[in-house]
Amino acid sequence: MKKAFITGITGQDGAYLAKLLIEKGYEVHGGVRRISQPILSRLEWLGVEKDVHLHEFDLAEINNIHRVVRETEVDEFYNLAAQSFVGSSWNLPVYAGDVNGLGVVRILDCLRTLAPQTRFYQASTSEMFGLVQEVPQSETTRLYPRSPYGVAKVYGHYITTNYRESFGLHASSGILFNHESPLRGKEFVTRKITMSLAKIARGADAPLELGNMDARRDWGFAGDYVKGMWQMLQQEAADDYVLATGVTTTIRDFVSYAAQTLNMDLEWSGSGIDETATERKTGKTVVVINEKFYRPAEVDLLIGDSSKAAKKLGWKATVEVRELAEMMAKSDYDAIT
Ligand code: NAP
Ligand code: GDD
Repeated sequence: MKKAFITGITGQDGAYLAKLLIEKGYEVHGGVRRISQPILSRLEWLGVEKDVHLHEFDLAEINNIHRVVRETEVDEFYNLAAQSFVGSSWNLPVYAGDVNGLGVVRILDCLRTLAPQTRFYQASTSEMFGLVQEVPQSETTRLYPRSPYGVAKVYGHYITTNYRESFGLHASSGILFNHESPLRGKEFVTRKITMSLAKIARGADAPLELGNMDARRDWGFAGDYVKGMWQMLQQEAADDYVLATGVTTTIRDFVSYAAQTLNMDLEWSGSGIDETATERKTGKTVVVINEKFYRPAEVDLLIGDSSKAAKKLGWKATVEVRELAEMMAKSDYDAIT
């Protein structure tokens, strides 16, 4: 039986990856932060909370990384933990650097000294492309991060490459474009949209407040992306891969797709901070803009080229963006009674 350790097992990707590995017959270990009440809701939603072995863990602390690497002796180590919300990273720039950047080298150095045969996956991100230097973005596109989160992830990305080249570790980075699901954190824009629209469809009056409606993202389904992570670690040689759908969509269009699922027909008017969306049947204002959701520096356009992953891993995204909006909006609507 193979063994794996997942940092960030309580997060969206951690939960989906845990389920996938359990289905493949792995013994799954995961790191959980000590907080007043551990949140296992995603693992519970997927029905795997009793099948995982949980360890107290924080990426900011070298000693517990050392301890879990030594005690668990896993075949595969997936580093999915991060301060993952870009918007907060301007308020927590040092913490983002510590956890998302230095946290990676803490793990790599423990693996180098204690478990050099363990295969390592690093959760790199399309946010590293930031002010994009090429369209679409691939493994060879020059990086230009636009947030403290993105800058820290660039360090994590390059230190993973460096440990692979310096010490021969089987260390791979997945440069993943945005991926979502009904388990997506509530602060990320897709889930914020589907939760708010579901409440409005159930009778709530408060409109959905958003920031930049013109940003474009390449959105896929998290279940597909964790499969790609696992496939990367099954290759003979470690490498870096982009995972993306190759389709880009504005925030505005995602709102419209989710609204359609909930039988809401939106009419858009105005622009910039005066933009609104009104529901045609009821005349209700459904979307307004609030400047507080604008970012100090924006990533305007993300669209990925995952042809390397298609060719070498046989990976491809199976859920297109309308289907994703529908899946999330339905799930949020059904959760409200
Ligand atoms: P998520 O749902 O926000 O989960 C983040 C996880 O990291 C949570 O389990 C969280 O624990 C844990 N964590 C945060 N700070 C930690 C620390 N100091 N020590 C240990 N654990 C810590 O994020 P996700 O969407 O699953 O993303 C997984 C990874 O992929 C992240 O590294 C993210 O940056 C990266 N990524 C995500 C996407 C995407 O679109 N989802 C795209 C590219 C890359 P708590 O439950 O205690 O908060
Ligand atoms: N969160 C949020 N809330 N974003 C908004 C809002 C709002 O009210 N209004 C507009 N947006 C815009 C943001 O300005 C951004 O351009 C876009 O919606 C997406 O924001 P998020 O959903 O917060 O995701 P992200 O793209 O910044 O980051 C996610 O994807 C990265 C990969 O590209 C996260 O999952 C990161 O961890 C991940 O690395």
